[in-house]
Amino acid sequence: MASADTLTRPADTESLQELAKRHLWMHFTRMGAYADAEVPIIARAEGPYVWDEHGNRYLDGLSALFCVNAGHGRTEIGDAMARQVAELDFITVWSYAHPRAIELATRIASLAPGDLNRVFFTSGGSEAVESAIKLARAYHQRTGNPRKHKFVSREVAYHGTTLGALAATGIPELRTDFEPLVHGGIKAPNTNSYHWPADRDPLWAADQIEEKIIFEGPETVAAVILEPLQNAGGSIPPQDGYFQRVREICDRHDVLLVSDEVICAWGRLGHYFGCQRYGYQPDIVTTAKALTSAYAPMGAMIATDRVFEPFASGADSFVHGFTFGGHPVAAAAAMANLDVFEREDLCGHVLAKEGEFRAMLDGLRDIPIVGDVRGDGFFHAIELVSDQETKAGFDDEQSEWLLRGYLSGELYRRGLICRADDRGDPVLQLSPPLICDTEQFEEIHDVLRPVLTQAWEQLQRR
Ligand SMILES: Cc1ncc(COP(=O)(O)O)c(C=O)c1O
Repeated sequence: MASADTLTRPADTESLQELAKRHLWMHFTRMGAYADAEVPIIARAEGPYVWDEHGNRYLDGLSALFCVNAGHGRTEIGDAMARQVAELDFITVWSYAHPRAIELATRIASLAPGDLNRVFFTSGGSEAVESAIKLARAYHQRTGNPRKHKFVSREVAYHGTTLGALAATGIPELRTDFEPLVHGGIKAPNTNSYHWPADRDPLWAADQIEEKIIFEGPETVAAVILEPLQNAGGSIPPQDGYFQRVREICDRHDVLLVSDEVICAWGRLGHYFGCQRYGYQPDIVTTAKALTSAYAPMGAMIATDRVFEPFASGADSFVHGFTFGGHPVAAAAAMANLDVFEREDLCGHVLAKEGEFRAMLDGLRDIPIVGDVRGDGFFHAIELVSDQETKAGFDDEQSEWLLRGYLSGELYRRGLICRADDRGDPVLQLSPPLICDTEQFEEIHDVLRPVLTQAWEQLQRR
């Protein structure tokens, strides 16, 4: 509840509603929906919980959009940021370096697998993906393959909103308003095997990437961009051996493998990097979000020695950058965040507890609307179906009612923040902070069970 020592005072809440409606442009939000309804205003947070401006508590089952992995309210991260302001508030990494960026780059390189040794900081995930697309193109330009410029990513995958990253994003509704996009974004099927025919080769989706590369002409393809576990479409894990096959394909056609770990890094899958979970070596990793547990905006693109090499000598440089990349205060937040990770062994905690989290979700399979439960680590989704036998989904009208008309509001009303999403098949996404334990899993269960049961019952009556 808002109290005297918080920044939001109770007396402000009415005007905050009015001001939000008048001035705040919320991202990816149907602003018209709030003409007659309250804007949800989150005013306080601590551990795995957040409170709205009326003092209602919610379990943050999405880590504030896959970000706050270390949990909310870690004032030690804020203290490190304050100390950094006192020491050096800001200097750009255009031409200069500063201690925190150097220390953080060194630490990230030591945690990343293989020779992912070069860290290029950005302000967020889209900038990291944009940077990776540009680096892949520039790398091939400078290594004698100037025609290699296309990039293969997967259907329904989300890789960000800047025009390059959007061309990698495979969600048509996010793209159409902004076309034409950057040229060269090729789409391959994703690894969601729930609707596959039973006799399909498990590595079919991996081989489809090679088909796309061959169809486009390998001499025109610069990179393959994949999340370790695809978020959009509902926590879609790779098949066993998928990434090993993709690595072989990339090597065969001189195509760079970009692991987009904006969500999957920093413990989400029980390892510092998602590629470590599935045992593959990317050429470039993109990350953001929980690098600082979102205490400050920061992203990074991490490249191997081989990919960095054409930019390493003489008059060569990667002609690209962002003013705020490597911001000292964000770098200080990231260092303090990684201290928390080490001290509390958050990765180990996820590995120890992911089975319990998954078992809780699997326990909901008796509810007829629960089709598939999938994911790894603290990164899971439930696919919703109208028929468990046939795995059939919903028509547009049912889907709109189910996800927007019922589930989103009802879950929130009962104190659980998670995401009801239909970018692809309708899913509920759950990615709680990595500090969550049995108590929070039970809370999630105690909201999901009645809400999903009632959703099913109401659908039968519609
Ligand atoms: C896999 C992936 N890539 C890129 C992005 C874009 O990151 P940002 O929103 O920080 O620009 C996201 C955001 O959710 C993401 O999930």
